[in-house]
Order: sequence, then C-alpha cells, then structure tokens
Amino acid sequence: RRERSESLSDLMLKAQNFYIAELAKSQIGLSYLKERQISEATRQKFGLGYSPDNWQALEAVFGEKYSSKALEDCGLVITKDGHRYDRFRGRVMFPIRNPRGQVIGFGARVIGKGEPKYLNSPETDIFKKGQEVYGLWEGREAIRKAGRAIVCEGYMDVIQLSQAGFGEAVAALGTAIGEAHIRKLFKIVPQIIFSFDGDDAGRHAARRALEQALPVITDTQEARFILLPPEHDPDSLIKAEGSEAYEREIQHSFPLSTFFIDSLKAGKSMGTPEGRSQFLAEAKPLLLSMKEAPVLRQQLIGSIGLVVRMEPAEICSLIGIPFAAAA
Ligand code: UTP
Ligand code: MN
Ligand code: MN
Ligand code: MN
Ligand code: MN
Repeated sequence: RRERSESLSDLMLKAQNFYIAELAKSQIGLSYLKERQISEATRQKFGLGYSPDNWQALEAVFGEKYSSKALEDCGLVITKDGHRYDRFRGRVMFPIRNPRGQVIGFGARVIGKGEPKYLNSPETDIFKKGQEVYGLWEGREAIRKAGRAIVCEGYMDVIQLSQAGFGEAVAALGTAIGEAHIRKLFKIVPQIIFSFDGDDAGRHAARRALEQALPVITDTQEARFILLPPEHDPDSLIKAEGSEAYEREIQHSFPLSTFFIDSLKAGKSMGTPEGRSQFLAEAKPLLLSMKEAPVLRQQLIGSIGLVVRMEPAEICSLIGIPFAAAA
C-alpha cells in the first residue's frame, strides 16, 4: 500500500515537471500569469505549470506507461469508451503538495473564461480533499515565523498573498473549510485569520468557518475574520490597492466573538423580544459546540447577555450549560 502511494506521487512529480517545462514554452500560459501579475519567483515557489491543449500530451512523458492503470489512479488520465486522454488540457497547473512537499494533486485553471474555471484532481489514495491545505508546505516557514495562518478561498489568493509578503496564506481545496482543516492549522499556530471573498459566497464561507472553528478552538487560540468589500477577494484587493491595503484589513479584522454576534444579529430586529429570542435560538447550538473553550464561551455569553438583555446565568440555564460564576 505504502509502495503504491509512493509510486503515485512519483507519477505526479513527473507530470509536474512536464507541466513546468511546458509553461516555459507556452506564450499563452506565460502571458496569462503575467497579466495576473505573478512573478517568475512566485511561479517557481508554487511550481506553476501549463498543460498543453492536447488530449494525449502526457503520452510523451509516460510513453508505454500511459496505458497503465496507475496514471488513472492518480487522476491524470481518464478512460472512457476504451479511449484514454489527459484530464488537464490547456490550463495553468497548480500542484498541490502535502506537508512533506510531495505532489498529491493539481488544481487547473482555464485560461480566460470557460467552465469549469478550476478543474481539480479527483480524490485518490494520496489526495483527500477534506484534509489537505493548499500552501501549507510552501508557507511552512512563514507560518511558523508569523505564528498565524491566513485561510482564504483560492489558489490565486494564496499565491498573490505570498507574493505580497503574506507567505502564511493557505486555502482549503475546492471544498469548504472543515473542522479537519482547522484542527490541522491550530496544531501548528495559535492564530487563524479567515479571509474569504467579499461576495455572498465568501460571506457564507466565513459563517461556515465560524461554525467549524467553534468546536475546535481552545481558550489559548484565536480566530479572526477579514470581511472584504463585495467586489474583492484577497488577490484582487492586493492588485487594486497594494499590500498595505491588505495589511489594513488584517489590522481591522474582527475577533471571533464580534463576528459571532454580528453575523447572528444580521437580519433580526434585535429591538424586539422575537428578534432576541431568534438570536438565542441560533446561538444555542453554536455555544454548546464550544467544548474546548470554556472560558471563551463564558465571555461570549457575557457579551451576548448585553445584546439580548439577559443575565449570563439566565442564558446558561436556558441553553443548559453550567454557569461558572467566577469565569
Ligand atoms: P473563486 O471563484 O473565488 O475563484 O473560487 P478565484 O480563486 O478567485 O479564481 P480566479 O481569481 O478567478 O482565478 C475560489 C476557489 O474555489 C475553487 C478553487 O479552489 C478556487 O480557487 N473552485 C472555484 C473550484 O475548485 N472550481 C471552480 O470551478 C471554481
Ligand atoms: Mn469566490
Ligand atoms: Mn475569489
Ligand atoms: Mn480571484
Ligand atoms: Mn475593512
């Protein structure tokens, strides 16, 4: 089993090197990355490549082996009706590496417009999307040095942030951020800054990240939230307004407690008993999930008390958790 996984990552590495060499020759790929203001150094750091617009380009790399099942098992080649062809064609290639630096998958962006915008490797024996964090390996030193990770949505956000001096940026992979991702990050650093897109999907992702962080966070850890203007993601903000603008967003980021209360208040008339009780009903499961952060929870309940006009002890008895008078 172990030998097999190693051979899959050998194939992935071979493919990556091919894509890198192809990018160097590809006017389309190079000018696309130039347009997106990605430098050569950044390209190298992230091992970016280009998959030629050709149904069997990998045949040139793997030869006889192109017909082997291993290439299918690692998601590079697809077989349909007896025909074999490359999964990734005419796209900018983003290798996804595990914490040991081995290539375990690819994200692949169409040049310009097209569907899907990003095509990702399927789950394989070596690639489990719910757990892998993009940029963790590339950012390992910056993350340790900064003592924090910036979690964003996309490949280009991670790369642009890194180029702008925020090497601690990472992203969940084509899936929403989950508990497993957050656990993994909190094992390495005490602070996570969630920095999703400013659009509705990004706001939704932030709310989801909050829900996923609550059961995991401990009293000595910190989560913060950056809420960008609706037209921006970290990549576009940095391109439009520079890295100082992003630094300001970090300075103005919201602590988890503020984001918790503000996002639950949204859309409710907090001036009415109905609004306040809806707030509490929504807060209840979230507060109950905070198993690892008793002090933070107690503090949060204190702040919630002001918003819903109740004593913290009343809130505790209402949602069925012990009230720690001294906390
Ligand atoms: P976005 O739609 O925000 O894309 O999706 P982006 O990262 O800003 O892309 P650019 O700037 O247009 O290049 C965020 C992330 O969601 C995943 C990718 O990981 C992407 O980076 N995604 C998005 C997919 O996996 N497939 C898609 O078709 C779109
Ligand atoms: Mn988005
Ligand atoms: Mn985006
Ligand atoms: Mn973007
Ligand atoms: Mn702001």
